[in-house]
Amino acid sequence: MSDSPIVTSMNEQSPCVPTHIAIIMDGNGRWASQRGLPRFEGHRRGLESLRRTITAAEELGVRYLTVYSFSSENWRRPVTEITELMGLLRRFIRNDLADLHARNVRIRVMGVQDGLSPDIVALLEDAEKLTAANTGLTFVVAFNYGSRREMTDAMRSLAEDVAAGRLAPSEITEEMVAGRLNTVGIPDPDLVIRTSGEQRLSNFMLWQASYSELVFSPVLWPDFGREALNASIEEYRQRDRRYGGISAAMGGNR
Ligand code: IPE
Ligand code: IPE
Ligand code: MG
Repeated sequence: MSDSPIVTSMNEQSPCVPTHIAIIMDGNGRWASQRGLPRFEGHRRGLESLRRTITAAEELGVRYLTVYSFSSENWRRPVTEITELMGLLRRFIRNDLADLHARNVRIRVMGVQDGLSPDIVALLEDAEKLTAANTGLTFVVAFNYGSRREMTDAMRSLAEDVAAGRLAPSEITEEMVAGRLNTVGIPDPDLVIRTSGEQRLSNFMLWQASYSELVFSPVLWPDFGREALNASIEEYRQRDRRYGGISAAMGGNR
């Protein structure tokens, strides 16, 4: 992948660079089948794209990068494919964690532990713990994640406080709901990119993406990297974020 022009200098964020980019990494299976390869080969190459994308995001000065790696619905896939995806996550954490830590990257995980093998739960927890004090890019891995489950768990937690008499229903605020989501302390994504041309959210960050700009890249995830990331950011820069108000060009104040 060649360098493209909108890159700012290392770790100096330009106002045009989104603070938080979230990516639905899609198209691994199609990339492989177009080449007559097994789907796993697409996932394996997708891990290379992820490495390229993390580096590019760091260099751009992006503060938060979230990637959708395994959805709560991906359990519907054949067991062999699920096993391969779990193996790739293991490989990623084992191979890359020390390097990411040395680069001051903070790792956060969102999703539930249900169904995951204990060694994967431990790997993810250890990665979070090891990098907790890092101050560079925050890299959020959505693994075994589904937005409806995340919101349901937040609602249950609020309901428990109400039932215990700690909270009145009338006191519940949007901030309280947000504070019980996996993303507590992380700003909402400015830009959500989905690769492979599909145009849906597939249960990803439904609360947090309320005012995100959505960019649907035609690039299949194994072909994604710096160039495609820059193209998506360029598209984002053309957008007029109004948040329900009026355009800045028309005197709006957002
Ligand atoms: C994305 O690629 C990887 C995961 C969802 C885990 P896919 O495996 O969904 O690839 P397509 O959509 O079948 O091409
Ligand atoms: C979304 O992709 C989940 C991830 C990228 C991890 P899918 O390929 O699973 O989504 P659908 O099934 O096409 O909606
Ligand atoms: Mg897919």
